[in-house]
Amino acid sequence: MAGWKFLAEGVILAVFLLTTTWASSIDERHSIHLSENEPDNSEFALHNLERIANEMLDAKRHGRPSRMASQNPFLKHLACDPHAKFRTIDGTCNNLLHPWRGAAKTPLIRMSPQRYQDGFNSPRIMYHYSKDMLPSARRVSLEIHHTTSNISNDHSHLLMNWGQFIDHDITLSPESGSEGGEEINKTRCCEFLSNTDNLHECFPISTSYDPVYRQGCIPFLRSAPIPGLPNQPVLRYQMNDLTSFIDGSMVYGSTKLKSDALRSFKGGKLLSKISRNEEILPDEKSNPRDCFHSEQECRYAAGDVRNSEQAGLTSIHTLLLRTHNKIASALEELNSHWSDERLYQTTRKIVGAIIQRITYKEFCLWSLDQGT
Ligand code: HEM
Repeated sequence: MAGWKFLAEGVILAVFLLTTTWASSIDERHSIHLSENEPDNSEFALHNLERIANEMLDAKRHGRPSRMASQNPFLKHLACDPHAKFRTIDGTCNNLLHPWRGAAKTPLIRMSPQRYQDGFNSPRIMYHYSKDMLPSARRVSLEIHHTTSNISNDHSHLLMNWGQFIDHDITLSPESGSEGGEEINKTRCCEFLSNTDNLHECFPISTSYDPVYRQGCIPFLRSAPIPGLPNQPVLRYQMNDLTSFIDGSMVYGSTKLKSDALRSFKGGKLLSKISRNEEILPDEKSNPRDCFHSEQECRYAAGDVRNSEQAGLTSIHTLLLRTHNKIASALEELNSHWSDERLYQTTRKIVGAIIQRITYKEFCLWSLDQGT
């Protein structure tokens, strides 16, 4: 219980602070889902991986050899240091025999086999045997998910928030972002509702006769395709932008570029901002798209781009930032000869362990207890 207790104390204060100082432009803060992290190496940029994957899928469709398969960056040999004391920031070399396993920007692993309509790329639209059209995803959702009110006497809202926080440590599947180098405006997907080609990556959901959505269509963009790892068959794979390990990616980032941008490089601490005498997340100033009202107000910077999805989540980010900086200070007091790098990496290791401990010993046990 120790982990939850420490979080519960801080979260009340942090939620109060965040909701009282909350941005007027909450909608702008919320629209963050086009983002994916800039890679350390441009070969792993989403648009490059997408370009290679699309060519490989096209070649397969036409039964010809792919011209770009050899450009797949996952074919590169990774040199790992078997004696490394700390996790790599991008998750490579966690498993020395399979150094790409769980690394950021590699394909998500499937728990069941793919069922594309054409066997390798296109979204499934028909029943396999009868060839009847499948119902719209929205219709299935309406039939299956009913809104219920189920107030728990055992769990606070923190249980849900920790779930979202952990999701942002382990998965982010970027949407298809480029079309000839241009970002697709997702809302345009609905203009193509009747187009069977679906603007390549759009797969809009019809909502005719919907009790809520009156506009007849929900814009839907498929996740970006990326090539498979060595020895995987040619198929459409989806990218995980984060390391799949519970290692604090949402606090530290999953690329060196990101993690460096979040560091103060003094005493192993992370950058932070002081607001009303309290330490909060720093501003995300690296991309002008992240600031509004002429830089008066910017999104918060943290390891994961979704940190401002809702106030409870931002509060947990704030707590973990403060925890990191407190532990770094304590370590520095005990080890005044340690370098910034050693203080940062050791603190990151401890914070990763705290997150794992809360998740496995408390969050998972409580959730599984509920029969979920
Ligand atoms: C107020 C709370 C939440 C909001 C507003 C929210 C919102 C979203 C949105 C907008 C997406 C992207 C959907 C898309 O790509 O079309 C998403 C994805 C996701 N959410 Fe949430 N979410 C919330 C809470 C949670 C919680 C509590 C969990 C888990 C316990 C969770 C797990 C996930 C997962 C696993 C994904 C997919 C991530 C990926 O691979 O890209 N979310 N959420």
